[in-house]
Amino acid sequence: MPLVTTKEMFKKAYEGNYAIGAFNVNNMEIIQGIVEAAKEEKSPLILQVSAGARKYAKHIYLMKLVEAAVEDSGLPIALHLDHGEDFEICKSCIDGGFTSVMIDGSKHSFEENIAVTKKVVEYAHERGVVVEAELGKLAGVEDDVKVDARDAIYTDPDQAVEFVERTGVDSLAIAIGTSHGAYKFKGEPKLDFERLEKITNLLPNFPIVLHGASTVLPEFVELCNKYGGNVAGAKGVPENLLRRAAQLGVCKINIDTDLRLAMTASIRKHMAENPGDFDPRQYLKPAREAIKEMVAHKMRDVLGSSNRL
Ligand code: G3H
Ligand code: 13P
Ligand code: ZN
Repeated sequence: MPLVTTKEMFKKAYEGNYAIGAFNVNNMEIIQGIVEAAKEEKSPLILQVSAGARKYAKHIYLMKLVEAAVEDSGLPIALHLDHGEDFEICKSCIDGGFTSVMIDGSKHSFEENIAVTKKVVEYAHERGVVVEAELGKLAGVEDDVKVDARDAIYTDPDQAVEFVERTGVDSLAIAIGTSHGAYKFKGEPKLDFERLEKITNLLPNFPIVLHGASTVLPEFVELCNKYGGNVAGAKGVPENLLRRAAQLGVCKINIDTDLRLAMTASIRKHMAENPGDFDPRQYLKPAREAIKEMVAHKMRDVLGSSNRL
């Protein structure tokens, strides 16, 4: 089976009230761990590549690794560009075999975001590739969003409708309180579900995307800290909030930080317990297993995407 787009996946996810996990990949062990989990869980899967990942590993290496994963596993996998910042990087990924791209124009004005998204959509659709865009800003923990500031940062429901109509985009990432990285909330974690419901009511059957959706499980924070790391105070999106989002029209949930924490905790533990080890296979094997366990847990217990093939 060749790489697939997210069209069918999102349609089934929307109808079934679950979400597809989009996991960031940077090397072979991460790809293998994720794909092994998807195979065991019989789950649809999106592998996503950031500009930083392309710079680190090179487009061609990641492409060939993902092709190998598809051939080896027989799974329907979509390969997606995460946070494409301009038309050029989207074009390069479309020309280079990706089946989905994100054009992230969220830092631009509404009109400029529409213009660049439209240009990418035209180029992508002519080539059978689907497009995700972003409207609204994912605040960091440093900008703890006060109620009266929300309207300026979070996605405006009416603008979302206009944006989708004018661009023809296939899915939309929205801002309702999540943010990237391990430090998402200072106080109690909260998402603006009222806003999400308004958006999904105005855009029925349209796939919504949630970025910055790692949970930052306390056991991995503890493990990292126990073996010489320092991620004290890290706090992510509670799993029950993600499950609720998946039932409210969110079809794609992006996870990177949780994989980084799981992999790093495993390597820290291994090196602390085996200080004489210098064979990369000895620490990358359990690290790959840690990725697999984390992804299987997400599919089974959070996203609801297990047994959906
Ligand atoms: O949202 C960003 C992803 O976590 C990718 O991060 O740009 O460091 O590869 P990166
Ligand atoms: P996290 O940092 O919460 O894992 O979010 C990843 C993401 O949104 C990638 O686009
Ligand atoms: Zn993101």
